[in-house]
Amino acid sequence: MLCPRQSTSTPLVLHLSIVTDSAKVIRSFSLDSSGTQPQSEPCIMVIFGATGDLTKRLLVPALYNLICDGLLNEHFAIVAVGRGDMTSEQFREKIGGSEDGLRNFHTRREFDEAKANELLSRIHFVSANIDAGDFRKVKEEVAQLDAKYQTGGNVLFYFAMAPKFFGILCDTLYDAGFQDDRGWKRIIVEKPFGTDLSSAQQLNKEILKHWNEDQIYRIDHYLGKETVQNLLAFRFSNGMFEPLWNRSYIDNIQFNVCEAVDVQGRGGYYDSSGVLRDMMQNHMFQMLAYLCMEPPGSLTADSIRNEKAKLLQSVRIYDRNEVPQHVVRGQYGPSYDENGNIAKPGYRQEKDVDPNSSTETFAAARFFIDNWRWNGVPIYLRSGKALWKRGTEIVVEFKKAPEAIFRGTEVDQLEPNRLVFHIQPSQGIELLFQAKVPGPSLQLQKVDMRFSYGDAFKASRYTGYEVMLYQCTRGDATLFSRGDLVEAAWRIAQPILDCWQSTPAGDAFPNYMRGTWGPPAAGDLIERDGRRWFEVVTPDVLERSPMFLGADPLLLNSVIMALRPCSAEKGETILRHGDPSKEMYMILRGEVDVFDKHGHLVKTLKDGEVFGEIGLLMSTPRTATIVAKTQCDLFVLEKKDFSRILRDYPQFAEAMIAVAKDRYDLIVSNEELMAH
Ligand code: BG6
Repeated sequence: MLCPRQSTSTPLVLHLSIVTDSAKVIRSFSLDSSGTQPQSEPCIMVIFGATGDLTKRLLVPALYNLICDGLLNEHFAIVAVGRGDMTSEQFREKIGGSEDGLRNFHTRREFDEAKANELLSRIHFVSANIDAGDFRKVKEEVAQLDAKYQTGGNVLFYFAMAPKFFGILCDTLYDAGFQDDRGWKRIIVEKPFGTDLSSAQQLNKEILKHWNEDQIYRIDHYLGKETVQNLLAFRFSNGMFEPLWNRSYIDNIQFNVCEAVDVQGRGGYYDSSGVLRDMMQNHMFQMLAYLCMEPPGSLTADSIRNEKAKLLQSVRIYDRNEVPQHVVRGQYGPSYDENGNIAKPGYRQEKDVDPNSSTETFAAARFFIDNWRWNGVPIYLRSGKALWKRGTEIVVEFKKAPEAIFRGTEVDQLEPNRLVFHIQPSQGIELLFQAKVPGPSLQLQKVDMRFSYGDAFKASRYTGYEVMLYQCTRGDATLFSRGDLVEAAWRIAQPILDCWQSTPAGDAFPNYMRGTWGPPAAGDLIERDGRRWFEVVTPDVLERSPMFLGADPLLLNSVIMALRPCSAEKGETILRHGDPSKEMYMILRGEVDVFDKHGHLVKTLKDGEVFGEIGLLMSTPRTATIVAKTQCDLFVLEKKDFSRILRDYPQFAEAMIAVAKDRYDLIVSNEELMAH
């Protein structure tokens, strides 16, 4: 088995303490409720598609967060436009309900009845179709509420409907005479903005027929995420990284947006979309632009969006024939239980999905930015559904230090420095580097400096839509996409769409099992370049093992830092029955078969599963043989490293002794636990 040389080091975890100074707000992208931020501007918000999912799951909970935090102007009301016959009272009851409404979907620890009722009382339902007559009814309602709530004639239209309606909504609003009144009029348009380059261009044309670009706010909810906004704050408020932010120092950049969920009943929409349209063209390209753009002259919406547009326009556009070389697609198949029966359906068996669908639920791509700063630096993107873990991370991998000067020492290999932006579910930034292990010889150990949002700031669980709605009322378009930016992003995606359309995947799909790390070709794509995906093991992944379930975060993080990658060839025996136990494994990619002492197959384990953990507790002989069923990428945790962690944090040793007894029925002594 191929394992990197082991060091005898104690894992060091360096904690970077962050002192926050709330008085220094660079720019109010994010919201706080400390009373230092102005409120949203007075307006009437008109939601088209108010009976849909988005309104109940995100928009109303977001407005509720704003009102609870004192950020929603009291001169505010909502006109909820939908089809169906309902009174405002009935709509309020539904949208505020405890099963399918605010009382279920709110994100706050405590539910504030008074604030909820205040918000709900401002919602007025109007039943309307998209025609000028009905929209005049909407206009009358808006006029009445404007008089009642003194909103200065300001109206924010929110299109929470399918994109095919955007053009006609714009026309009908115009025909109903909305743009003639006093006050500002702004339109928030939900994603997806078009389904390809030409439909996006057409949509831009339709929307801009009657409205100006500065009235259009194209939403991408990733830009509402604190951790995404922090990419800009991090880059431009810290002097030490910007000089290194280029091809001279950075070897490659990786963007991972991995989802454990499947299409969740949205098969109808997803089957005509796929991950390239659903995640890459918008959310991932937005993050790419933030991370790689040139510093803007100022932090105004236009300066930032100009730089983002320039960056996306510099991404190399592949010729359709080049696509297979740079982009890999995948689709999940079913998962199986221990008896070989289907446990959960594959994509093609999902509701509203074509049983022969060639829609991709996974994609991995290598892009290049052809400008002075990034020339030759590969940018890898990977995203998929039904994967073994949820996690969005951006990994900036720096060039390695020269290994030559370590000749003649115990060090045979250096690791590159990595800066990891944890976007979700962990939120924070981590810098990985190497340090000398204390002792007489020169040995290195990977260590990290870590900043966690939860530790440094009072965590607020926002939906992400609060900041977008708030900024829109204030006329700040920084967090919204501009027409040219959306088109630039489609221009990059278009040849990939064309290539896939002309060569449907057919029998090549499904090519990964639900709950795994995606198709093996995604690994090949980067490994051909002599690199690897940097896999971020999150505490929740480790907690899948009974041994670490509910463990202290400090212990989990120390264990994660001590994990080392290794691999096993197909057919290779990883553990042998009777051998002494001295390590635990986690499967990153691949499958292993577990055989009992008679050589009978007991079960098969796959991505994300852990085996051999008893080896960390005591050095008894192994009770099973484990053989790689496929080529496997694994993480290994040596007992000697685990024992050192426990020696460093003796408080955890006691907990482990209890875990051994309760969860594995083993009586383990302290000495045994600490033994090398
Ligand atoms: C949406 C996509 O835009 O983003 C979904 O349509 C996806 O398919 C979702 O699941 C992911 O958002 P988040 O905030 O959960 O990462």
